[in-house]
Amino acid sequence: MKKYLLLLLAGISFNSYAQKKASITVSNDSKDTISRHIYGHFAEHLGHGIYGGFWVDKNLPVQKQDRIRLDIVNALKRIKIPNLRWPGGCFADEYHWRDGIGPRVQRPKMINTNWGGVVEDNSFGTHEFLELCKLLNTEPYVSANVGSGTVEEMSKWVEYLNFDGASPLTALRKQNGHPGSYNVKFWGVGNESWGCGGNMTAEHYADEYRRYATYARDYPNVRLRKIACGPSDGDYDWTETMMKKVGTRMWGLSLHSYTLPTGRWNDKGPATGFGEKEYFNTIKNTLRMEEYVTKHSAIMDKYDPKKRVALVVDEWGVWTNVEPNTNPGFLYQQNSLRDALVAGTNLNIFNNHCDRVKMANIAQAINVLQSLILTDKEKMLLTPTYYIFDMYKVHQDAKYLPIQLNTPDYEFDGNKLPAVNVSASQDKAGKVHITLVNLDSHNSIDVSTAFKDVKWSKVTGQVLTANSTADVNTFTKPMNVVPKTFNGAKRDGDRLMVSLPAKSVVALELN
Ligand code: AHR
Repeated sequence: MKKYLLLLLAGISFNSYAQKKASITVSNDSKDTISRHIYGHFAEHLGHGIYGGFWVDKNLPVQKQDRIRLDIVNALKRIKIPNLRWPGGCFADEYHWRDGIGPRVQRPKMINTNWGGVVEDNSFGTHEFLELCKLLNTEPYVSANVGSGTVEEMSKWVEYLNFDGASPLTALRKQNGHPGSYNVKFWGVGNESWGCGGNMTAEHYADEYRRYATYARDYPNVRLRKIACGPSDGDYDWTETMMKKVGTRMWGLSLHSYTLPTGRWNDKGPATGFGEKEYFNTIKNTLRMEEYVTKHSAIMDKYDPKKRVALVVDEWGVWTNVEPNTNPGFLYQQNSLRDALVAGTNLNIFNNHCDRVKMANIAQAINVLQSLILTDKEKMLLTPTYYIFDMYKVHQDAKYLPIQLNTPDYEFDGNKLPAVNVSASQDKAGKVHITLVNLDSHNSIDVSTAFKDVKWSKVTGQVLTANSTADVNTFTKPMNVVPKTFNGAKRDGDRLMVSLPAKSVVALELN
């Protein structure tokens, strides 16, 4: 009996220390492309996203063009941001675009009722946003006001930006310094119309969408991609109604889904200093994105089997409690390795659903929610999330390579989650890119990779990890969590063997 118990105990401890193993097969049997617009961003008039973020005081000692901060522009250009959504968010449905054009001293001031009740001086308006997009070499995505605006207001904004012929609005644009049309393609028709954008029912909004969309015209140089307000999280009725009543009259239907570490809006959990319980729950919550995208896509498939309407996840990311002693309306939060693992996981999900998900926008670019960049006056730092976008940019507009995955679980306190997630693509030069996430905070995982119709001979890679999932970059230690060269992948016959460190994101390039 004693001998049996000893053997059993040895077995238990052997199992808990046994090297975990996963296997994947990468194949070449899809015609889908991973749209670069999945790697999109979002800049709202909120906290220090625009003011004190992109758009700074003229006396701030940093390089600027007008008042646009160029160190930020250069950092975002490095990761090739494909589009930028503006001016909101909830702010968009209280924004009247005519307040933000013409001489700045004459622009009216307003209260930003959604975000901290601060004064909005309208110094950053339409022309400033489009100048920023030009500097970033990115496509503008403008969200029009449906909640408190009018059909005429949106229609005229489109005309002001996109019409080249003779009209009073074209003349006004010229007078304001831009002779040529801007040709803005992406237009949001309202934001969260079920909430801050007007508290509408799906039926009412569907009719409003049709009315607004009718008068948002295609001018000769550009065909609009109109994005309708879609559901939040698992609101499948909203999607069903929109597909039934609007169908292919929209280019895209949005989905908003935030990851709250605790799952509760009244106490979302801290951005730093959390333990494994909070980490595990955050990961459990973020993995629901797979379910949301799958189920919304299935409803869309019923009405649109040819997949003409895109699912546009134009607000996603981790939303924590604000940092202590900051304005609660400014949504300023630190950014940890955990957030990078969340970003890597969500981007893998979007890549794997690229037949339907054609665009996504993490919330938000600078100093707000899951930011890529944090600033403190003239100082700026790149967050762990920034580095994920850097490592994943190779997937932009690359051919999607489907993957079959067998993963072990990440276990905590009697609960389990799939430890590994992955996506893959092949770029125009023929290089294969595989991005793998190991969510298990303790165990490394050996991944054996097989290929179907994919040729390669050499592998290189990068890894992002840290001592703890709660590690962050700070203004005094800005390089605490940064990608490093990865030496844990090698060829073994026809297979690729990868040793994925615990709590890491690995990006591999196969030549
Ligand atoms: O991103 C912050 C806010 O979250 C946006 O303004 C709104 O659309 C969402 O509720």
